[in-house]
Amino acid sequence: MKETAVVTGASSGFGLLTALELAQQGFYVFAAMRNPEKGSELVRKAEAIGVSEQIEILQLDVTKEESIDNFKGLVQHMSRLDVLVNNAGYAGAGFVEEIPLSEYRTQFETNVFGLIAVTQACLPVMRANRKGKIINVSSISGKIGFPGLSPYVASKHALEGWSECLRLEMKPFGVEVSLVEPGSFKTNIWSTGKQITEKSLQVDSPYYSYMQKLDNELKRGESSYGDPTDVAKMIAEIARAKEPSLRYPIGKGVRTSLALKNVLSWKRWERIFLKKLT
Ligand SMILES: NC(=O)c1ccc[n+]([C@@H]2O[C@H](COP(=O)([O-])OP(=O)(O)OC[C@H]3O[C@@H](n4cnc5c(N)ncnc54)[C@H](OP(=O)(O)O)[C@@H]3O)[C@@H](O)[C@H]2O)c1
Repeated sequence: MKETAVVTGASSGFGLLTALELAQQGFYVFAAMRNPEKGSELVRKAEAIGVSEQIEILQLDVTKEESIDNFKGLVQHMSRLDVLVNNAGYAGAGFVEEIPLSEYRTQFETNVFGLIAVTQACLPVMRANRKGKIINVSSISGKIGFPGLSPYVASKHALEGWSECLRLEMKPFGVEVSLVEPGSFKTNIWSTGKQITEKSLQVDSPYYSYMQKLDNELKRGESSYGDPTDVAKMIAEIARAKEPSLRYPIGKGVRTSLALKNVLSWKRWERIFLKKLT
């Protein structure tokens, strides 16, 4: 039987490209998406490269109990599950004072609790087989805080800590856990995948001009955003690795930023940051 992988959020961006990459490498891929009607791009691309037989689209909204239960049912009947790529996610944005608590909760439902539920469904089969890789798509936002992005940053920081725990728990059972930490890449997360709280967009917000500066800074950098295929290829490499590491930072300037944050004092770091942004 073929090696099997599950990829969440496979309707676009990293998820779609990872499904293709894994299929090309011989995996049978369950491409999970909350709205299977969005699967046409994946199907078209899979047909074009001759891997459509190796990809099966699966309905999965990581925030819906019924959807998770159906997924659990499917996984229970799998004799093997080699790789889980926890990729589904979006970026909640805005300024803390203006973000309703409900928006923080919704952010965590997808990026944290949904991911935990999907993982819990997959652990029994991986543990029983004493084999499996769980690859969690985090972000540089899981290591560094950015103003105007606290729901997202908090969710990815939570994911980082949770993944460390899971890695230590599952290593004795032969299950590997890794984190991919991309910088900025050209996907839908910057358009449909970014949900800015209403108030921070209004001209009478005390944070409006700060928000505009952040936006301009983002736009200035847009042309240098990375090619998401590089992330998909890295995920496929981790899926194949014998002993994968815990963390895989990727993207322009990511390693430098992480190194600087580690060596600079917080005061120095914040001066550089705010000089650029305020
Ligand atoms: N692009 C970057 O620069 C970047 C950098 C660092 C980390 N990341 C991370 O990479 C991951 C993938 O994002 P992307 O950049 O590829 O953006 P994307 O193109 O917007 O893809 C996000 C995917 O997640 C899915 N999704 C959102 N909420 C979901 C839910 N409740 N249940 C199931 N699926 C859900 C989306 O489905 P729909 O199509 O139905 O909306 C879509 O398939 C995310 O975890 C993101 O945080 C991205």
